Amino acid sequence: MTRLFPPTLLLAMALLCSGLAGPSLLAQPAPAAVTLPRVHFVATGGTISNRDGGRLTAEELAKSMPGVERYARLTFEQFANVASSELSLAQWLGLAKRINALYASDKDIAGVVVTSGTDTLEETAFFLHLTVRDPRPVVVVGSMRNPSTLGYEGAANLLEGVRVAADPAARNKGALVVLNDEINSARNVTKTDALRLQTFRSREYGQLGVVDRDRVVFFNQITQRTNERTEFDLANVAELPRVDVIMVYQGASGDLIKAAVDNGAKGIVIAVAGAGATSGTQQEGLAYAAEKGVFVVSSTRTGSGRIAPPRSDLPVAAQATEAQRRRRMFSVAGEDHTPVKARVLLMLALTRSSDRAEIQRIFSEY
Ligand code: DGL
Repeated sequence: MTRLFPPTLLLAMALLCSGLAGPSLLAQPAPAAVTLPRVHFVATGGTISNRDGGRLTAEELAKSMPGVERYARLTFEQFANVASSELSLAQWLGLAKRINALYASDKDIAGVVVTSGTDTLEETAFFLHLTVRDPRPVVVVGSMRNPSTLGYEGAANLLEGVRVAADPAARNKGALVVLNDEINSARNVTKTDALRLQTFRSREYGQLGVVDRDRVVFFNQITQRTNERTEFDLANVAELPRVDVIMVYQGASGDLIKAAVDNGAKGIVIAVAGAGATSGTQQEGLAYAAEKGVFVVSSTRTGSGRIAPPRSDLPVAAQATEAQRRRRMFSVAGEDHTPVKARVLLMLALTRSSDRAEIQRIFSEY
């Protein structure tokens, strides 16, 4: 038997289905107001701001990104406005301390974007990678063409940097370098071409991700210590120790190594040929460094590849001379860090320890 609904009930059901009934019956919960993530932008200068007739300020750069309000609430500050190679090590310390202070005091910030010139960007970015101790990202952005050039890509790169900084997936990946739609780890990236837009490459490690029209995509992970797992606390560091990089080339003189030591270097990175070769009289310079208690990190000049530490279980040969023992006491393998990155890591390692095994551990963990 078919059961008929009374006409009033049918009317109420029809109203319910058509959406015409009063709010007490049908109102959907009001959609929560979507609060966009807040991204803080710190400008330091570089080609991205280097307009003919006067550099763009942080404010002008912030206003140069059409549609940024779709992705983030942007705040900004001017930290410096110089070429990347003009930033001093004191400014590096100041920049890292500033970002750490921002993160410590402002839980509302989702991420920080830093603009930099591209020439030494990989060094600045790696320094921030090692010293910003918060899960939230630091995204370093630059451009290859200046704002007065046809095809200036700075505003596009900056907007992509903001999108990455606003993305929760960017957390715990250390510092990220965003240019040319690509996301690279500050640990692995190198400027590989003096002029081309696709200059920032991570060589055999590959990109961490890309910034596409619809979304930020990560497809790779960084495995070394970063973010809250980094041990480099700058709170009590007023100055970074001097570390010099010396290149190996055919017939090179050890005098440059001696000069670095005599001028106050606390560490030297030797950019070895292949997996460890020096040339000319450089061994004499390295013996001098060891004699004076200066750590020497070997890093390959090839652009990729790893310098492995000596096996710690092998005893020093009985017939080794005192000079050879001392060389071993002050020699550290640079792992897969390029010479300029090894220099950044050695400066920070020396703020933590003057023990060879400890410094080697640091090179193996970062
Ligand atoms: N190539 C730029 C840099 O790395 C220098 C241009 C400038 O003066 O900003 O900083």
